[in-house]
Amino acid sequence: MSRDGFRAEEIDTSRPHPARIYDYLLGGKDNYDIDREAGDALAAAAPEVRVSVRANRAFLRRAVKYVVGEGVRQILDIGTGLPTSPNVHEAAAEVAPDVRVAYIDNDPIVSAHGNALLGGSGANTVVLADLRDPQSILSDPSVREVIDFGRPVALLLVAVVHFLAEADKPEQIVATLRDALPAGSFLVLSHATGDLAERSEAQAVYRQATASMNLRSRAEVLRFFDGFELVEPGLTQVPFWRPDGTPPEGSHEIGFYGGVART
Ligand SMILES: C[S@@+](CC[C@H](N)C(=O)[O-])C[C@H]1O[C@@H](n2cnc3c(N)ncnc32)[C@H](O)[C@@H]1O
Repeated sequence: MSRDGFRAEEIDTSRPHPARIYDYLLGGKDNYDIDREAGDALAAAAPEVRVSVRANRAFLRRAVKYVVGEGVRQILDIGTGLPTSPNVHEAAAEVAPDVRVAYIDNDPIVSAHGNALLGGSGANTVVLADLRDPQSILSDPSVREVIDFGRPVALLLVAVVHFLAEADKPEQIVATLRDALPAGSFLVLSHATGDLAERSEAQAVYRQATASMNLRSRAEVLRFFDGFELVEPGLTQVPFWRPDGTPPEGSHEIGFYGGVART
């Protein structure tokens, strides 16, 4: 048995996993040689990648604090990633103690780690499910235990929609989730882009991984906010979304757009 609660033969180390590559790039320990090799290849193809993932994570934290500050007490976080401090419920607790979080990811390693870290608290849940099947997320009994869709919800799709290909019909997926949100809800979304530099080599690294990387232009990312109203400053590179200090050096090269919008 590994420290993750998996039997060694159950861990897929034949291909890099996005959650584990991201964990490696953030300086975490829940990754394997195959993920570290992919992470190093990414950093060789896109030298700003480490500062970018940290900036994305900082955006996530600021956006969570913003929506909780606006009164939201329930968060549906799809594409959670491996636990990374501060996690969404911890960022939320910096503003209010009574926020409930449903964490969703399609990688079993995330639910195994997440359950070990967050399970049993009652206020949060960790569910193994796929964004490509939004109805299964919305009707999941564990999600329904934590999230009351009659009250405002913050839907987090942070650094996950770029793992959906056009064939997955990502706009329809986001629209299905949007239609389940009552008035007063929010969408927090970030997405990788190739607008600022040619990034086909970085994209190619994900061809070996369990999910492909689909870079989109600013105009294409904006489509995901259809039916929502973006709050100021709109869709920006993540370090420039309501920064709480001086944005890190190299921020203008960061290939992630992020925005927050209201229903
Ligand atoms: C780059 S991490 C982002 C983690 C976190 N949201 C953040 O921004 O810090 C992307 C996560 O999305 C998950 N993911 C990828 N495709 C998914 C899908 N179709 N359904 C659910 N989760 C998915 C991966 O397993 C990974 O944990």
